[in-house]
Amino acid sequence: MSSASRITSIDDVPEETTFLFRVQPVDDGDEVKEAILLHDDEGVVSWLNYCQHFTHIKLDKGSGAEMRDGEVICTNHGAYFEADSGRCTFGPCEGAFLNELAVGVDDGAVYLVDDDYEFVGTGGIETDADDLGSKSNYEF
Ligand code: FES
Repeated sequence: MSSASRITSIDDVPEETTFLFRVQPVDDGDEVKEAILLHDDEGVVSWLNYCQHFTHIKLDKGSGAEMRDGEVICTNHGAYFEADSGRCTFGPCEGAFLNELAVGVDDGAVYLVDDDYEFVGTGGIETDADDLGSKSNYEF
């Protein structure tokens, strides 16, 4: 597997939460998206980092998504997604599936092997602190 598609060491994928990284669709050059890596019963799986209730809402907001009993939780409205299948088992988008990315493990490292996406880097998409401030719900 190409070193350019190496996401991280498998030892760096946490057991109880998610590992955040960035990808770019091959056929849509400008739009970087976030994705998560997590363990399932057979190794690691990867999903785009967006809830299926509101697809602009991130599951991992930068410090790892909440997980319970093998499911990823969207903390916005409490949807649960199976880690291994991506299926929503409870919540407002029950029955919907997360968008899968193909990953593989080789010699202790996790690689992106998805024909539709290129690996960009680890971590989330940077947001401008000024933008966040202007969207505050508080007035002073
Ligand atoms: S945005 Fe995820 S459950 Fe509503």
